[in-house]
Amino acid sequence: MRFLVTAGPTREPIDPVRFISNRSSGKMGYAIAEAALASGHEVILISGPVHVDPPRRAKLLFVSTSDEMFDAVDRHVRACDVFVMCAAVADYKPAKVSPTKIKKHPANFSLDLIPTRDILASFSTQDRQFLVVGFAAETNDVEKNANRKLREKNLDIVVANDVSAADVGMETDENEVTIFFRDGETRKISRTQKEIIARELVNIFANARENCLTKKMS
Ligand code: CTP
Repeated sequence: MRFLVTAGPTREPIDPVRFISNRSSGKMGYAIAEAALASGHEVILISGPVHVDPPRRAKLLFVSTSDEMFDAVDRHVRACDVFVMCAAVADYKPAKVSPTKIKKHPANFSLDLIPTRDILASFSTQDRQFLVVGFAAETNDVEKNANRKLREKNLDIVVANDVSAADVGMETDENEVTIFFRDGETRKISRTQKEIIARELVNIFANARENCLTKKMS
């Protein structure tokens, strides 16, 4: 199968030396790309700025902003079988990017932010042939929020993790996830290395894709 995986944060520039971003390390997305390759799948990995060694056999596309990530997904998503949106895309970006460095003044300073495009929702709500997997990083009400994202973004699967604990999830080597399916089924993968979680997730995604193909044929 052909996997399209996004990973890492995006950076939304404020001026030539500053940006808005988040704590995503990219490790989970890179581990999914690696695990998909190890299972014999083809992988295109669209990555924001991270410090992780890239999987050698993946086709790699590096991007910085949410708009660049949107364009890269737009170019490749229709040819994939499984679309895994693991990137931590910024929800807001500065309304204007200053062409010169913003100078310091004694007064308070506010930035005018506008929403970025929701990449996942843009492609999952169109007519599609591919399986769509979203991630949900939550600090509270994990199940409620994950199910809302599943419904509102028309996803096949949501992988949710609780990012409130400091030693699991973002910026760490371990994770613990709950997987929510459209039919209401859930599965939990208890705390373990991201590589091990990634292998299980890839099997789950590939099986789910097989099942929807079988359903369409019958
Ligand atoms: N996502 C996206 N484009 C955005 C924001 C998020 O494609 N502009 C995707 C993420 O990659 C993830 C899913 O949407 O797969 C959920 O992201 P998350 O940050 O958990 O939720 P949001 O939809 O941004 O909502 P909130 O921040 O309110 O929880």
